[in-house]
Amino acid sequence: MIELNGVKTAFWPERVRIMDVGPRDGLQNEPYQLATSQKLALIEGLVNAGVRWIEATSFVHPKAVPQMADAAEVSAGLPRGNGVIYYALIPNEKGYDRALAAGIDHVGLVISVTETMNRKNINLSVAESLAIAEKVIGRAKADGVKVRVYASVAFVCAFEGRVDPARTIELTDKLMAMGCDQVCIADSVGRAHPGQVAGLLGALREKHGTERLAAHFHNTYGMAIANTLTAMQQGVSFFDASIGGLGGCPFSPGATGNTPTEDLVHLFHQMGVETGIDLEKLCDISDMVKDFSGSLPPSAYYRATRVKKAS
Ligand code: COA
Ligand code: ZN
Repeated sequence: MIELNGVKTAFWPERVRIMDVGPRDGLQNEPYQLATSQKLALIEGLVNAGVRWIEATSFVHPKAVPQMADAAEVSAGLPRGNGVIYYALIPNEKGYDRALAAGIDHVGLVISVTETMNRKNINLSVAESLAIAEKVIGRAKADGVKVRVYASVAFVCAFEGRVDPARTIELTDKLMAMGCDQVCIADSVGRAHPGQVAGLLGALREKHGTERLAAHFHNTYGMAIANTLTAMQQGVSFFDASIGGLGGCPFSPGATGNTPTEDLVHLFHQMGVETGIDLEKLCDISDMVKDFSGSLPPSAYYRATRVKKAS
C-alpha cells in the first residue's frame, strides 16, 4: 500500500522487482549476432546499473535460435558473487540438463497457453509440456533450482487469436499446484490491452495471491506500459523488461520488443515505487546496444533523453 497525493492505492507495492530479459528475449530476435563477450559486457552493465534479475540466455536448439548457441559460454562468464539472480529459458528436460551442467540455478520453462503456439515454438502439445513441467519442478526441488514457468501467449496468440482467460487460468492453476516457484503471465505478441490484464491478473490474484506471479509484456501496439501499470494495480510486483526495448519473438510473426527497461524504471520512479535501478546507468547500456546494433533503441525514455534534437 502506498499513498500518492493523499490517495491510498490498495494494491500498489512500495517496491518492484524487474528482470531484464534483453540478453535472451531481446537478442534472440535481433538480426545481428553479438559475440559472447559483447553479451557479457551488456550483462555486466545491467548488473552495475542495479538490475538484480537477468535472463541471461536460453538452452534451446541452436538451429531453432542460433543467437543462443553460446548459452554455456555466456553462463560460464556471468559475473557472480553480487547477489544477482540469473535465469535461463528452457523448452524441455534436455534444456534443463544443459542449464544445470552450465551452472544455472534459476530456469524459466516456456509453455504456451495455445496448442498451435506451443507446437510451433517447441514442438510439444500443452499436455506434454505440463508433464515436462512436473518432472522439471520435481527435479529442481532436489537440485536446489528455482523454476518459473512462462504462460506464453496468455492473452492473444498470433495463430489462434484472442485467448479465453479461462485457459490461462487453468494452466496457471496446474502449475501452481505442481509447486512452481513463479508463473510469468506473458503477452508474447504484445497485443493485450489493460482490460484483459486487469481481468486475468485480478482473477489470478484472487485464486493464488500475487507472490508467485510475474508479468511479461511486449510493446507491439504501444500498450506495454499501460499493461504493466494495470498489472501492478492488481498487486503484481515482478515484471520482465528488456534494455532499450530490444527483442520480439521469432515464432510469433509481427511481435516487437519487450517493455523497455528504461521506460518501466522511469514509470515506477515517477510514481515513487522503488526499483533499486539507476536509470542513467541503464541508458548507458542502451548506448552500448545502439553501438552494437547500429540502430536506435525503441525506448521512449532513452530517445527523449539521449537523442540530440536539432534546435
Ligand atoms: N537444446 C539443444 N538440443 C535439443 C534440445 C535443447 N533444449 N531439446 C532437444 N534437442 C535436440 C535433441 O537432442 C535432438 O538431437 P539429435 O537430433 O542430435 O538427436 C534434436 O534436438 C531433436 O529432438 P526433439 O526432442 O525431437 O526436438 P524438436 O526437433 O522437436 O525441437 C526444441 C524441439 C524444443 C528443441 C526446439 O523446437 C527449440 O529449441 N525451440 C526453441 C524455441 C525458442 O527458443 N523460442 C523462443 C523462446 S519462447
Ligand atoms: Zn517475450
